[in-house]
Amino acid sequence: MKKIGLFTSGGDAPGMNAAIRAVVRMAVYKELEVFGIRYGYRGIINGDFIPLESRSVSNIIQRGGTILRTARSDEFTTREGREKAFTNLKKTGIEGLIGIGGDGTLKGLSVFMDEFPVKVIGVPGTIDNDLYGTDYTIGFDTAVNTALSTIDKIRDTAAAHERLFYIEVMGRDAGFIAVDVGIASGAEFIAIPEVETNIEELRKMLSNYRKDKSSAIIIVAEGDREGDAFEIAGKVKDAAGYDYRISVIGHVQRGGSPTAFDRLLASRLGAAAVEKLVNGKSGVMVGQINGDIAETPLSETWEKQKGIKPGLIELARILSL
Ligand code: F6P
Repeated sequence: MKKIGLFTSGGDAPGMNAAIRAVVRMAVYKELEVFGIRYGYRGIINGDFIPLESRSVSNIIQRGGTILRTARSDEFTTREGREKAFTNLKKTGIEGLIGIGGDGTLKGLSVFMDEFPVKVIGVPGTIDNDLYGTDYTIGFDTAVNTALSTIDKIRDTAAAHERLFYIEVMGRDAGFIAVDVGIASGAEFIAIPEVETNIEELRKMLSNYRKDKSSAIIIVAEGDREGDAFEIAGKVKDAAGYDYRISVIGHVQRGGSPTAFDRLLASRLGAAAVEKLVNGKSGVMVGQINGDIAETPLSETWEKQKGIKPGLIELARILSL
């Protein structure tokens, strides 16, 4: 293999730039030519390739977003789109592809590899942490820390006004961000899609808290099955007499300078992805499990459920007594 292509796709995540840097520098070290593909799958279809060298990725390890930009492509979901994409790769001589993103990105790689003779490696980049085959995805730790610093600030005003706050965090259909920020912020209740949110039980808990807690925090994962923060607040109705407010943290969770943890994870996984391609591997996602680099067949990353660590929800409840 002489030439490889690299792209980011789907929602951006802090640490994607650190992963791009690692891929490029490891590729240079392994004497491969590396092309950055702009705008994800759309860029493969449009042939939007830029040659990258070691110095092309200087001064990006600390930056959020992705220098390659990102997009969601409808055209790549069609056979015609994928054919165009393969023709462009062939024209340029690209034999291996590294895609950094979430489950949509990994599914795209898997379909592409099944239809065309191209080697593919996935790198988990999403704030949601919802992929099997890695303890953490790139961007999750930064998103948790960003949300946490916001929640700490909300707690100040909640305490000052003796209010209850419903705070909604991202995570799509998963509650990983909610659980971690819920425990780390000392929230009174965490609503996540993985566990049924019992509104009656929540009402009872609030009535109890009202006896001796002047303020309280409820973390709502955006994908909770009872609804978003507004819907849950609406169902709880009078909130046991608390004056309440609702705060949706939103896209701030996707930006900002990556934490040391995310930079390190991205550096290790980006480099490992290149090594896998060089060793002839294809169709796997690189991840980190118990501190070691691991590889998982692409389809398992979305078919198998990672699941919230047992005991964490229980721990959150006990610690908010
Ligand atoms: O997958 C990352 C994520 O930020 C989710 O947490 C969220 O549900 C979604 O993307 C938001 O997507 P968009 O930026 O397209 O609104």
